[in-house]
Amino acid sequence: MKIAPSILSCDFSRLAEEIHAVEAGGADWIHVDVMDGHFVPNITIGPVITQGARRATGLPLDVHLMIEAPERYLEAFVRAGADSLTVHREACPDLADTLARIRTLGVRAGVAVNPDTPLETVRDVVSDIDLLLIMSVHPGFGGQKYLAGSTERVRRARAMLDAVGSAADLEVDGGVDARNAAELADAGASVLVAGSAVFAHPAGAAEGVQAIRKALGA
Ligand code: DX5
Ligand code: ZN
Repeated sequence: MKIAPSILSCDFSRLAEEIHAVEAGGADWIHVDVMDGHFVPNITIGPVITQGARRATGLPLDVHLMIEAPERYLEAFVRAGADSLTVHREACPDLADTLARIRTLGVRAGVAVNPDTPLETVRDVVSDIDLLLIMSVHPGFGGQKYLAGSTERVRRARAMLDAVGSAADLEVDGGVDARNAAELADAGASVLVAGSAVFAHPAGAAEGVQAIRKALGA
């Protein structure tokens, strides 16, 4: 299981230190939440901060694009140092084309689905992706409560990937913490994104990562 702390919940005045803390805690990827104020009602990180994160770590940067018309910015995020780009099903009328463009840029291609979006809507691309991201909150803000039905969606997404023999990662994002980590592992997730559970952990961000790892029994 990979743990991907979301820097959305970190102290941006200390970005490098925060990243180094989760690295020390055993983080596998750094999750970068990009929001444009259109696809979601919040504005967050762009290529500039992504580049700052790139300078701070050698860990893979897992860039989650919660933006309209993401094809406009794929190249900018690759130049900023992204290792994977995940676009939203809901934001891509020609999803296959957008995924192909991501791959052409030489990074891993992911698709995210909102809680209300049927998994059926990504069935035709599951063979062409490196990562499937199941949103377990409505995107826009960190610190929201995990939507209970998400575990079952992860289970069904796992079955969809397995049915086509896909080796894609199955990532869960939103409200993930030490209490639901084990059930998500059991449902077939391979990457857990955690923002507030890591960066708002009372003992510090490194301990936040370790608490999730411990809950996984490894
Ligand atoms: C939600 C973002 C998530 C979020 C995770 O819109 O995509 O990555 O920041 O934060 P927590 O773990 O606090 O829900
Ligand atoms: Zn995210």
